[in-house]
Amino acid sequence: MNVSTVAIDFQARSYNIIIGASLLDDPASYSEIPVAQTALIVSNTVVAPLYGARLRGPLRDLFAKVHEVTLPDGEQCKNWQTLELIFDSLLHNNCDRGTVIFALGGGVVGDMAGFAAACYMRGVPFVQVPTTLLAQVDSSVGGKTGINHPLGKNMIGAFHQPRRVICDLGTLQTLATRELSAGLAEVIKYGPIADLGFMDWIEANMQALMQREPSALGYAVRRSCEIKARVVAADERESGLRAILNFGHTFGHAIETGLGYGQWLHGEAVACGMLMAARLSQRLGLVDSAFVQRLTLLVQAVGLPTHAPRLSAADNAGRYLELMRMDKKAQAGAIRFVVIDAPGSASMQSAPDALVREVIDACCVAP
Ligand code: NAD
Ligand code: GLY
Repeated sequence: MNVSTVAIDFQARSYNIIIGASLLDDPASYSEIPVAQTALIVSNTVVAPLYGARLRGPLRDLFAKVHEVTLPDGEQCKNWQTLELIFDSLLHNNCDRGTVIFALGGGVVGDMAGFAAACYMRGVPFVQVPTTLLAQVDSSVGGKTGINHPLGKNMIGAFHQPRRVICDLGTLQTLATRELSAGLAEVIKYGPIADLGFMDWIEANMQALMQREPSALGYAVRRSCEIKARVVAADERESGLRAILNFGHTFGHAIETGLGYGQWLHGEAVACGMLMAARLSQRLGLVDSAFVQRLTLLVQAVGLPTHAPRLSAADNAGRYLELMRMDKKAQAGAIRFVVIDAPGSASMQSAPDALVREVIDACCVAP
């Protein structure tokens, strides 16, 4: 299979996302990486045994010293305590300012390794080696790094761009089915917000994606990265346009925080959140019910949740609103939602609490 390259334009900080089969074993994958004495591979207890050796081998040809740190697995470990393990390893191994950090894993490893790279000695280079579909189509691209706080998802972090993103599609063959579906949520996201033709393609190729056909996965990763690269190059720090990539995330982050990190996968919460945001868009008169139904069928076809969980027995909608006021897009306590203003196009809007309550009530599972 061919290797595709998606370039992301940040002028002097531009980099390439490379996508293909068996990239871990291909020495060409490791070009354009800063020359240094030392590398640190950050991975976790699930991914390191699967792919650690395949990354370590080529890195030993490039770096005099290759250190490794293996983090505990899971969204519930995306916190300060786990981040400290990366700093401990960097310091114990006397890693200097040139040290290149390699994030080998899903979005949790990528966000934490990237944040450690942003902070260590005020910034060292890092490379994303994403091994989940979600990380290949979204989290490894664009430089958002960080950790969760018990009161809010991804609340502590930094913008720090990687030097290269290496998407080895072969790694997706070992993903759990539930994780594949969670990744497809972020693939689906790009259709309603930016490219209706891509939504058509996803619908037509759903079976091939679910069966992990390499050519279908390759196209999905490439098209997703192309859309994301265009958006983040235009608005790196999310002063406007980039917020559209958060379609479904305002509701979704409330679900993740409200249930406790790791109860629902990020992609599951985003899928359900997209349906809530689509319903809100409908209630605001922006899209019709046929579009909401179309998105619902797509989410259902992937096996992702179409009904939201209840977060409080007493005042469920109130709890959602409380959590969503913590969202990074909120301004002066007013929640701002990414809405679909026409199929294939998104924008940010506030909405009256009463309307949002109605949408939450309509989307939540009955007690
Ligand atoms: P994850 O990193 O927890 O990975 C999912 C599970 O799959 C984990 O158990 C992991 O160990 C395992 N795994 C990883 N690769 C595997 C492989 N090839 N084979 C078998 N198992 C494998 O979750 P995720 O869905 O990749 O990422 C979710 C995280 O990404 C969330 O914390 C979310 O906030 C973040 N995120 C960040 C951005 C961003 O722009 N920075 C964007 C979207 C999501
Ligand atoms: N995943 C949203 C963003 O990168 O902005």
